[in-house]
Amino acid sequence: MKRIGIAVTDPGDWTAVALNDALVKASARPVVFRLHDVTTSIQEHNRLYTGNTDLKSLDAVIVRDVGGGSGSSGDGDGGSSGGGGGSEDMPYRLDVLCNLERSGLKVVNPPEAIRTAANKHICSYLFREHGLPTPDTILTTDLDVAMDAIRDWGRAVVKPIFGFKGMDIHCVVDDEHSVKLLSSVIDTRGVLYLQRFISNPGRDIRVFVVDRDVPAAIYRLAPPGSWINNLSRGGSHKRCEVTGEIAGLAVEAAGAVGAVYAGVDLIEGEDGLQILEVNGTPSGKGIFEACRVNVAQDIVKCVLDMV
Ligand SMILES: Nc1ncnc2c1ncn2[C@@H]1O[C@H](COP(=O)(O)OP(=O)(O)O)[C@@H](O)[C@H]1O
Ligand SMILES: [Mg+2]
Repeated sequence: MKRIGIAVTDPGDWTAVALNDALVKASARPVVFRLHDVTTSIQEHNRLYTGNTDLKSLDAVIVRDVGGGSGSSGDGDGGSSGGGGGSEDMPYRLDVLCNLERSGLKVVNPPEAIRTAANKHICSYLFREHGLPTPDTILTTDLDVAMDAIRDWGRAVVKPIFGFKGMDIHCVVDDEHSVKLLSSVIDTRGVLYLQRFISNPGRDIRVFVVDRDVPAAIYRLAPPGSWINNLSRGGSHKRCEVTGEIAGLAVEAAGAVGAVYAGVDLIEGEDGLQILEVNGTPSGKGIFEACRVNVAQDIVKCVLDMV
């Protein structure tokens, strides 16, 4: 019987439980562990263990979540900041996954894809490099450059490069308040990630990709008075019909960051669909609630086919 690890932050979150159940249903043995609890023993040939479990004896590992700050557990997308903030926790967790991968284990998503997906800067330039539609974006420490872009675009969105769950996102226009906000972001974060605001019908599209296929997608609708559509920010969901265009863009976006499975965020702009981001540790809960499609089963099938 194949033994498949599930790396979690919160073993009780919907997606972690669904992955566990899908493995049992597929006659594999799930081994749930927290990356936080892993010990690395360099002197024992880079042994990785948690409790009595030797992680390198597993057949594969599915990464549900690598954590990434408070609020990252629960039923939303896993946060996965690429580091920073002085904390060595996140780099350590990703490096544990790299160590596992180097020993020949299949790790899904691959740690490099999780690291890339967590970085909105790298994702933006990869989308552009692959010729995929994504909103105009600049990164700068120059307030004048930033204000020029805002004047040009009319409205812009400021996001943390390593942000997730719609947190610390602001909409800015050409006014005094924005100048203050942007200078404080430059001072505290060191650089601004500024994106053209895409006028949209008050919703965005979360597309689930597994192994270059799209099992389902949902519209996410912002709560009244908000323009941020994340479910973890009070958004609601509704089934979205997967057109060829939606599936094609989402599969290409996931491929651009190297993700085997992904939650791809699209927004319906006046000039067509634009890719906002790729999540490398997405929740399957919203898709299940709106479409009754259990993406955990697709992920498990894909991983079991690999080992
Ligand atoms: N350029 C944009 N124009 C309009 N709305 C945006 C834009 N960027 C983000 N949003 C809104 O904010 C939400 C969160 O942005 P996203 O880039 O997906 O970051 P996060 O990683 O925090 O989810 C999106 O789902 C969308 O509703
Ligand atoms: Mg998002």
